[in-house]
Amino acid sequence: MSYRNPLIILLSMAAVLLFAPVHATDPEDLIDYRNSVMRAIGGHSAAAVAIVRGQVEHDEHLPHHAEALVTTTRMIAALFPAESAEGDTDALARIWEEPEAFSAAIANTEQAAEAFLTAVNEGGDVGSAMRDLGMSCRSCHEDYRARR
Ligand code: HEC
Repeated sequence: MSYRNPLIILLSMAAVLLFAPVHATDPEDLIDYRNSVMRAIGGHSAAAVAIVRGQVEHDEHLPHHAEALVTTTRMIAALFPAESAEGDTDALARIWEEPEAFSAAIANTEQAAEAFLTAVNEGGDVGSAMRDLGMSCRSCHEDYRARR
């Protein structure tokens, strides 16, 4: 068997990839990722608020921000694995101590984002749906995020 044979080399590289141990993600990377997604959610929220308040005339963007809020708030449930509890984070330990209440807070925001999208698409009360969404964020932050 010669290692100069390209097929052998390719096969052994594939074997290395196949059997490489699954390495755990660095907790700081999990925390950074969480905050990146949260900032994306914050960005779409702030942009939507500016449109709803009439501060900018980009009404045609509103459905896209609303869609993005539905998509990104659905990611929240995956952003708090146990390994991400400690490190450079404002997430409070309560998150992992009361998982049911925390899941309820996530569900609140997911539903508020869906209601906001429905209001935007079907001509409902967009302002009040936006406020409800904002309240749902604030409520989770008050309970589960450290004040700076
Ligand atoms: C279920 C709880 C929960 C919900 C719902 C939630 N957040 Fe958060 N959010 C957190 C926690 C906890 C942190 C702190 C994360 C950390 O520091 O690791 C955070 C952090 C943030 C940050 C700071 C990111 C940074 O870089 O420091 C922003 C902005 C943010 N959230 C926006 C929002 C907005 C806007 C909504 C609603 C549309 C929302 N969040 C809904 C729990 C939540």
